[in-house]
Amino acid sequence: MKIAVFVSGRGSNLSALLNYPDLINLIEIVAVVSDKIDCKAFEIAREFGINTFTMGEENGKISQNDITSILKKLEVDFVVLAGYLKLIPNELIEKFENKIVNIHPALLPSFGGKGMYGSYVHRAVFNSSAKVSGATVHMVDKTYDTGKIIAQKCVDISDVKNPEEIAERVLKIEHQLLPEVVKAFAENRVKIESERIIIIN
Ligand code: GRF
Repeated sequence: MKIAVFVSGRGSNLSALLNYPDLINLIEIVAVVSDKIDCKAFEIAREFGINTFTMGEENGKISQNDITSILKKLEVDFVVLAGYLKLIPNELIEKFENKIVNIHPALLPSFGGKGMYGSYVHRAVFNSSAKVSGATVHMVDKTYDTGKIIAQKCVDISDVKNPEEIAERVLKIEHQLLPEVVKAFAENRVKIESERIIIIN
């Protein structure tokens, strides 16, 4: 399965995919796309010899239309949003129906939506006094964090002292959950049944 990974920053989830032993023979990451001209995730991509592209309408960036053509040319069959902060263009969503997934650092449908990213999510969870948090991988549709949930993992946060501790615990879980879900897609084990998404083991 040929994959494009969309990123905006650090790239630890990209790294988790690249280093997950069970994925080596199943997937190939052929493109890393960002809205940023440069970011830590691009450095990781380059270390692995993966092409990087900056998408945007500003000067020096590649337009959404051209990115869509590039992904087609690279024969991408699946897209992973791993810390990508912008909305995905409708054209891409239509071309990759049920083939774009996002990782969100909380248990959706709570703590999601526009503006709920990075530290804002963990601060909101902390302030809510919730005792569990976790990570969610979901299908991407035309609005933030509303696509169907594919998989979730929880973590106990009853004893945390600050949002940073939540972030640390959740990130560890993300690095397991995202590769597991991508593996399930690569092995054709993800099915949509009666409005729910099921992973067959
Ligand atoms: C992760 O917490 C991810 O869930 C969120 O943004 C963060 C990206 O981290 N959407 P990284 O760039 O993968 O390190």
